[in-house]
Amino acid sequence: MRLSFRVNGKEVTADVPPGRRLLDLLREDLGLTGTKEGCGEGECGACTVIVDGRPRLSCLTAAIQVAGKDVLTIEGLAASGKLHPLQEALLATAGVQCGFCTPGLIMAAYALLQENPHPTEGEVREYLAGNLCRCTGYAQVVEAVLRAAERMR
Ligand code: FES
Ligand code: FES
Repeated sequence: MRLSFRVNGKEVTADVPPGRRLLDLLREDLGLTGTKEGCGEGECGACTVIVDGRPRLSCLTAAIQVAGKDVLTIEGLAASGKLHPLQEALLATAGVQCGFCTPGLIMAAYALLQENPHPTEGEVREYLAGNLCRCTGYAQVVEAVLRAAERMR
């Protein structure tokens, strides 16, 4: 079926077969490979993108579900060529190690800060509980989100 939506502010039209995942549409058809596939089963958060302002697991989202919607991926956060405060803060705290979880984590953190610009450490941990990271132990990630929140206020 023919599908139209916006991704990172641009109108996109694509032909998608039934059952095509949003993750595959983004990565394979649109070349937006910043969004990662970890588990492919809704368990790790690596594939998180924002759909109409809310975080969504793109591995569990059918492409046709985003018809007419606004999708934001990690590429859209630094579209101007300047890193987003979340990206800068993660670099500063060494919250990026292998980096595989990072795009999904950033998108989830972005959604959190849209909803709640003043999160506590506990709220950050709770919100990001579905985004698994094998490398950092989470302390640097949480620190980065709190620093970015401060900068963005
Ligand atoms: S790849 Fe989607 S939740 Fe793991
Ligand atoms: S930095 Fe390696 S999984 Fe998070």
